[in-house]
Amino acid sequence: MSADLFEKLRNNMGPLGMHHKEAHGYFTFPKLEGELSPHMNFNGKTVLNWSINNYLGLGNHPEIRKVDEEAAKEWGLAYPMGSRMMSGNTSKHEYLESELSKFVNKEDTILVNFGYQGILSLIDAVVDRRDIIVYDAESHACIIDGVRLHQGKRFVFKHNDIENCEKQLERASKLAEETGGAILVITEGVFGMTGNQGKLKEIVNLKDKFHFRLLVDDAHGFGTLGPKGEGTGVEQGVQNEIDIYFSTFAKSMASIGAFISSDKDIVRFLRYNMRSQIFAKSLPMPLVIGGIKRLEMIMKSTEHKDQLWRVANALQKGFKESGFNIGATKSAVTPVYLNGTVAEATHLAYDLRENYDIFCSIVTYPVVPKGVILLRMIPTAAHTLEDVQTTIDAFNAISKKLNAGAYKKDNLVEASQLV
Ligand SMILES: Cc1ncc(COP(=O)(O)O)c(C=O)c1O
Repeated sequence: MSADLFEKLRNNMGPLGMHHKEAHGYFTFPKLEGELSPHMNFNGKTVLNWSINNYLGLGNHPEIRKVDEEAAKEWGLAYPMGSRMMSGNTSKHEYLESELSKFVNKEDTILVNFGYQGILSLIDAVVDRRDIIVYDAESHACIIDGVRLHQGKRFVFKHNDIENCEKQLERASKLAEETGGAILVITEGVFGMTGNQGKLKEIVNLKDKFHFRLLVDDAHGFGTLGPKGEGTGVEQGVQNEIDIYFSTFAKSMASIGAFISSDKDIVRFLRYNMRSQIFAKSLPMPLVIGGIKRLEMIMKSTEHKDQLWRVANALQKGFKESGFNIGATKSAVTPVYLNGTVAEATHLAYDLRENYDIFCSIVTYPVVPKGVILLRMIPTAAHTLEDVQTTIDAFNAISKKLNAGAYKKDNLVEASQLV
């Protein structure tokens, strides 16, 4: 008799799901409630929140809220119905695309409904079994999953290691000669866990030696880097050499949706070949009108980006001055690396939330190496320098406790006694 599928799933909940009993509602699926801001309600009290990608603080900006509200009132969530190709196209969708193209300095842009699904479908559309993908080992899950759809060969290069990238390009070029295929290199503008910028400039330089097209996922760079927030390509002076530029609305734009910008004929190809767009409903009007407003605010003034960087710089400087290891971040993403076991990480995070009222994402093995605890801080324009100081003080206190073994199982006391 064959196995029962449900039985199999019940017996193996997966690497994250296996912890659901202890973690659900607290470490996984926590509820941050109240107005979207750095101070939100969690578990019955207000916490200082460093875990949302509302980089520019636009999520709850009164002008944005007003436009979102009016658009929802005027259009509802249904219009337009159907996919862009069949019945879901509007002048507003096209206008947002043309404004995005201008801002990121590309000929044309296609909107997609989610970044994750968009990248996946983009990769699926542009390469066939003869083509070869070369991609960074620490790429976001949506890139990895897009690569999984690819029916041809793929070569992964060590994270941000240009020598290794070159080696993989040599292998890819040899193979491409045999198959008659093309090469697509994929990396990110800013890696969301570590805050490292992708080495776009160095990768672009490899175009002198190898023939490939470059796709950059700039989810965390758009809005935060470049003189006006145009992204990592502009920041590094290589925007023209990025062949396909992608970003999501889920971060600086504080909404839902994403976009892909490239040459006019390539975007035309995407419009007619991306299965996620041909076979799915187009973005509802309030999201498009809200997107236009957000982009207008980003293009009009750098005040939100400047405030983000005031906070991010103070946070990063404060951590460094206190002796914390924040790695090699070159973006607003601020990782704090501590040493300890997964159990210590859990107790430390509990202490931080319950006794210091600070909420941030905690990342442990297997996402980071064994023995490393990564506390990932996302500063936003809505934070204040006072929030920064409170946080540095709290981190000094918890790291002292961590080093003294206070979070080891044998020494553990009730959370209320930890302070
Ligand atoms: C680097 C990166 N790419 C893509 C995505 C997916 O974007 P979306 O949330 O719009 O699906 C994310 C996370 O949101 C991301 O961090």
